[in-house]
Formats: sequence, structure tokens, C-alpha cells
Amino acid sequence: MNGGKTLLRGGTVVRGDGLIEADVLIEGGKIVRMEQIITPPDDAEVIECGDALVLPGAIDPHTHMGVPIKSITSADDFASGSRAALHGGVTTILDFSVLGEEETLLESVRRRRTEAEASLADVGLHANVTRADEALLAEIPALVEEGIRSFKVFTTYREAGMMLDYDAIERVARAVADAGGLLMVHAEDDQVVGEAAAKLDASAANPALHAEARPAAAEAEAVRRMGKIARNTGCPVYVVHMSSAAGLEAAMGEEGLLVETCPQYLLLTQEAYARPDGRMFVASPPLRTREDTLALWRAIAAGDVHTLGTDHCPFRIEDKPAGQPFGSIPNGIGGVETLLPLMLAQFLGGGLPPERLVQLTAEAPAALFGLAGRKGRVAEGMDADLVVVDPSAVTTDWFGARESGTDWDAFAGLPALFPRDVWRRGERVVERGRLLDASPGEFLPAR
Ligand code: URP
Ligand code: ZN
Ligand code: ZN
Repeated sequence: MNGGKTLLRGGTVVRGDGLIEADVLIEGGKIVRMEQIITPPDDAEVIECGDALVLPGAIDPHTHMGVPIKSITSADDFASGSRAALHGGVTTILDFSVLGEEETLLESVRRRRTEAEASLADVGLHANVTRADEALLAEIPALVEEGIRSFKVFTTYREAGMMLDYDAIERVARAVADAGGLLMVHAEDDQVVGEAAAKLDASAANPALHAEARPAAAEAEAVRRMGKIARNTGCPVYVVHMSSAAGLEAAMGEEGLLVETCPQYLLLTQEAYARPDGRMFVASPPLRTREDTLALWRAIAAGDVHTLGTDHCPFRIEDKPAGQPFGSIPNGIGGVETLLPLMLAQFLGGGLPPERLVQLTAEAPAALFGLAGRKGRVAEGMDADLVVVDPSAVTTDWFGARESGTDWDAFAGLPALFPRDVWRRGERVVERGRLLDASPGEFLPAR
């Protein structure tokens, strides 16, 4: 469990504002000391870090564990998805409640919170707002009190009953702003999507049509509309899974917009849809062009992307059978296990500062989602969520060692740097790359 003392000795601690050669002492699930040299207490387990980096456990602000998508449920539930998360160094996940037709917002969150009890990673929730009646908006302050202060809307998915029009979104934004919360948005303009899709043969199975049906122009239009809503209401608006140069450009200069992107939009392109397993890459928004990936990398370097999330929503090969109309393919791909490993390989291999990676995967999500002071930073008083990585251990041969309950991975074969050791609130959950049994995760109210 997490009561004992552990000393991480001799590593390089990575924080958003710099690298520090320091020993880190863990006790009672917390980081209790961080100094250049700490004499090990007699009863402490000493972990030699040598050339290793010591990072804060990552916070994945965007997962969908065991949710209905089209005709099926995403393949990782909270139990299997959180095992995958811990194996990859994600010690906190933030998932979403799903609002049932007859449910109040509070009921939907409480139901999801019960499901999330199966998580081994610590877990917080955002509330999906897929209706905007007065009674529902009136619930928002009570949810904030209950530790839910991020609310997500969709500008598309009309057929799934999840979309709100922009007037309704503006009403939600006002209510969220009044309650001191944050609005999240899946930004693809449904009208632009509808017009693009109408030009295509809906019975065709070719997954490449998914990218044509959901063009970057749809993202850019929705981002523009959300920028205006942020200005009108003063509500901070967090754009999830930014995928395109056009979307980024629309977000630039909009004070109130915060931007998340995901590894799939940085590392993969729409060429993947031409592969024999192309249907497996269907996710919304779709994969884009190489130019889009480069624009996103530039935005990361420039500080115009604020967080990295995964939109973890994996499926098994049998869940996306070949030959079905492209619009019926369940949308989503997994990523919670590979977020940190893929990005570590890219950042360290490409000479990008690891400090920036820690900002994107830990410090910024903690600050935006009400976890600062507890999560996201290697510092005295913080939860001992710690990841030790050996920078020389990059490999492309990791697929067989995954913990995710799926038989396919969008990133298989790409370089990745998996953690050597992971602690979640002081409990060692990964030892030399192997996942250990872990006690349940805790629910994290956003404060
Ligand atoms: O295709 C995706 N991204 N599926 C998960 C739901 C969403 O839109 O984030
Ligand atoms: Zn989405
Ligand atoms: Zn999502």
C-alpha cells in the first residue's frame, strides 16, 4: 500500500520550470521531501535512479472508458483502461459522464462515479451536457460544489442526440461561467460535416471517406463559433482533440480558448485509412494531413497547445468489421497507455524539452481541472504520483507488453519509452516495466 517510505535517489526531476538533480522522499502517499541529497531513513526502500528522469504521473484529461459508441461499447472499461493507464505512467484519468434521456445531470454524474470505482488510476469526471433545458442548467452550481467543474458540449453528433446548437451552447457557457467552471467542446460544425457528407456515397465502405466527410473546415468553423461564445460569456472554453492547422488558426488570438491535442493528430495521418486495417483508424475528428501534424507540433513548441489528452476510446478488431458503410464504423481509438511513452520518445528523440512535456501532460491539466496543489508536479506536499524513465529504453517492440484489453493499436511500431517504475499516491504500481497489483484509485473532486 502507500504508507511506507521510499527514497528515489539520484534522478533528474522534471518540472515545467526546469530540471533538478534531487532525491525524492515519499511517505504516506505524499512527497514529503525533495532535496539534492537526502540521507535515507532506516526504514525507507531506496530506489536508485541513476540516469533516469523522474516525472509527475501524467494526467490524461480525456478518456472514454466503456461508453456506447454507435452500435457498440468502447473496449476498455475503467478496470482494464486504468491498468493500461498505470502501465504507461498515467496515474490520473479524467473521464466523462453520459447523460441519459430521463436523467438529471447530477444523476448522470453519480452513476458514472459508481462505474469509475473500478479504476485503479485516480479518477475525476467532466459532465457531458447534451441537453440545455433550464432545469439542467440550474443544476450546474450544485455539480461544481460536488467537485465537477468541467462541462462538455458537442457541436456535432446530432444523430446520436449529443449535439447542442450554438445558442444552446451559449446558454450552457453562461451558466458554467457563473458557477466558476470550464466549458469543454468537441468542435466540428455539424452543418459543414453534413454538407461534406452529402457529396459522398453513404453506402461506401472506404474508411478514407470518413476524412472527407469531416473536413478540417468543420473544425475551424466550430472553433470560430466557440471563440465568439467564449468572448460573449467570459467562459473559458477548452477545445478537445484539436486536429488541424485550420482549427488551430481559428483558435489563435482567442483569449478564452484552451487547446488540447492528442498523439494521433501529431503522429498519424489520413494515409492510414488506405491500409488494410484503415477502418480501425476511424475517429472523430479524423486523421489529417502531414501539414496538419506539423502545424500542431509547431503550436506545441510555441505554447499554443495547452494539454495533451488521448480521447482514449479503443475498439477490438471484431468491433469494426470490414465492409460496413464508412459512417457506421464505431469512431474512436485508444491511447491512454501510450500517451507518455510515445510523447517521451518524440520529445527526447527530437530534442524538445521534457519540461514542456510535463507542462502538457501534468501541470496544465492539473491547473485547468482543479487538481493543482495535489497532482501534476513533483514537489513537497504533492501526491506521490511519480514516473521513473530510463531515457535509453526507447523501443518499437512494445505491442505485446500492453495492458489494454484490445488486440489492435493505432501506434504499434512507433518508438515509445515506457516507464521503468510508477508510483500512484506512493504505492508502487509498475516495477521494471511490469504492472503490479494496485489498490483502487480515488475519486478526485475538482477544486
Ligand atoms: O471518435 C471519437 N473521438 N470517439 C470518442 C468520442 C469523442 O468524440 O470524443
Ligand atoms: Zn470528441
Ligand atoms: Zn472524446
